[in-house]
Formats: sequence, structure tokens, C-alpha cells
Amino acid sequence: MRVLVTGVTGQVGGALVRLAGGKAAEGIEIVGVGRDRLDLAEPGRIEGALEAVRPDLVVNPAAYTAVDKAEQERDLAFTINRDGPSALAAGCAERKIGLIHVSTDYVFDGSGTRPYRPEDPVAPLGAYGASKEAGETAIRHALEDHVILRTAWVYAARGGNFMNTMLRVGKDRDELKVVADQHGTPTAAVDIASAVLALIRARIDGTPVASGTYHYTADGATTWHGFSEAIFERAAKVWGRRPVVHAITTDEYPTPAKRPAYSVLDTSALIAALPSLPHRSWQTALDEVFAARMAAEETA
Ligand SMILES: NC(=O)c1ccc[n+]([C@@H]2O[C@H](COP(=O)([O-])OP(=O)(O)OC[C@H]3O[C@@H](n4cnc5c(N)ncnc54)[C@H](OP(=O)(O)O)[C@@H]3O)[C@@H](O)[C@H]2O)c1
Repeated sequence: MRVLVTGVTGQVGGALVRLAGGKAAEGIEIVGVGRDRLDLAEPGRIEGALEAVRPDLVVNPAAYTAVDKAEQERDLAFTINRDGPSALAAGCAERKIGLIHVSTDYVFDGSGTRPYRPEDPVAPLGAYGASKEAGETAIRHALEDHVILRTAWVYAARGGNFMNTMLRVGKDRDELKVVADQHGTPTAAVDIASAVLALIRARIDGTPVASGTYHYTADGATTWHGFSEAIFERAAKVWGRRPVVHAITTDEYPTPAKRPAYSVLDTSALIAALPSLPHRSWQTALDEVFAARMAAEETA
């Protein structure tokens, strides 16, 4: 199965290419493409990009992901997150191939009090979430054979993410302030890549999950403050010191985009549909990603 993966310079796309790179023996050939070969901001040229690769399946983790900047660049966010995926889905429909599309917990408004299920009503608070929600809707209209995989709070050893920001800032400061009233689940990019790989394997085995929208994150939940404490707990063993993290409210840390106060996702539907789905606690995943980040620092 030849699988076209978009956004190879990103956290999830990169993790998927690395993880699946050696899977040729399992019948999986990954063709990773960057923006230079498939630009979601140029929907009219996506058909040509598909034709050049002739995939059997498309995985689309690429997206406009700058949550705050999207408030100023709303049109661009919609072009990349709605029009690009819409054209991708149309191209897949034309070729009668499937699409696995990565989406976000920020489609929800955060007023929920229990983990969000895939069928719960969406009500994005910001332009980024709205653009991703519009992309989901466009895909559902254009293509029957799709899996929309919503995930949350993505981080990796490399890339612009919360863990790396904390490690950069915490190295030089004795005290910092982190928001403690937004709840979610930190999810390692490599775990999302493993989930996508399990979806691909199920297709190859003739037992694909039914088309639709699913949730995938690590197990458990925390706040940004809880996540930062877990990061510094691990960093302290390396640094020999630990910054003090003061818990603050969202109101004390205003950002251009509003974020959901609660965006924990209920992953049980995907676990039930795909028994081979790997999943682990966010703390166990953090152990691994943190160690990878430290190892990368040593060799840098
Ligand atoms: N990051 C999070 O916390 C988070 C949370 C929930 C859901 N998600 C979703 O998870 C997915 C993966 O996120 P991520 O954290 O891996 O993202 P990321 O690290 O920010 O990477 C985004 C990728 O998209 C590519 N891209 C941006 N604009 C493009 C365009 N016009 N055409 C083609 N490619 C383009 C980027 O390429 P360049 O390097 O060329 O810019 C990059 O490879 C996204 O769909 C995102 O919405 C992310």
C-alpha cells in the first residue's frame, strides 16, 4: 500500500515517516511530501500532486497550526485547513482511495464536564478551531472513505511545542507562571503516528475501521500547569535544579485566541473499533519523549 503523507516537516508527519519508514516488508510504502510537493494553500494544484505519487491512501497531518496567529490570518488558516483538505478529499474520491485526516480538540468550546465524544456538538472558540472544523465538514461531504482523527496537545522531541518551550524557559529561570485552568491530554506525536499506522495495518488486513470521526490521545488528563510540573520533575534529574511553577488562570495570561477550558477527548470509540490500537498514559509517553529530547541535546 503506497501511502502519501503530507506535512513531513511537522511533528506528526515527521514521526509517521520515521516510524513507518522501515515498514516496506509489511507492505507499507510511505511517500512523505512537504509543502514544496503538496501545498494545501494551493487547492487547485493538489490533484497534480496526487497524480505524481498515485497513492493507495492519503494521510494528512499537515495544517496551519499557529493558534494565535490564525486570529490575524483567518483567510489563510481557512485556505490551508478547509480548502486544502477539501481538495485532497475530492482527489481521493476521484481515485476511490481513503483519507486519514488529523484534526483537533479545539473544535470544542470546552464547556463540557466529561471527556468529549466524537459525536458531541462542536463549537470552536477561535479561527484555528473553526478552520479545522470546516475542514472536517468539507471532508465528510467530499469523501465517504475517511477517518478524521482528532487529537490534542501534541508535542515531540523536536519542534515548536509546550515541552520544548518549558525546557527552554525553565533552564534560565527560577520561577515561571503556567495556566492551570485548561484541561487536556498531552499527546506525543510518535503515539499519534503509531495510531495512524495501526489504522493503515487494519486496512491492509481487510479489517478497516468504519469511516467517521474518532478521538485519539494518550490516556489520562492534566492541565498545562500539571504538564509543566511533570516536565520539570524529569528535567530536575538532569539539571540538578527545578524551577518553581506558579499556577495562574487563563485570565492572567491573555492570548489572541480563546482556548477551551476543558478539551479532554473520549478515545473509547477508537479503542473499541481498533483493538490493536497502541495507547499509554501521557506520563509514560513523556518519559520517552523527554529522554529523546535530552539525547538529541547531547548529540547537538
Ligand atoms: N500541535 C498541537 O498541539 C495539535 C493539537 C491538536 C491537533 N493538532 C493537529 O495535528 C496535526 C499535526 O500537528 P503538528 O503538531 O504535527 O503540526 P506542526 O508540527 O505545526 O506541523 C505542521 C505541518 O503542516 C505543514 N504545512 C503548513 N502549511 C502547509 C501548507 N500550506 N501546505 C502543506 N503543508 C503545510 C507544515 O509544513 P512547513 O514546515 O513547511 O510549515 C508542517 O509540516 C494538525 O492537523 C493539527 O491541526 C495539533
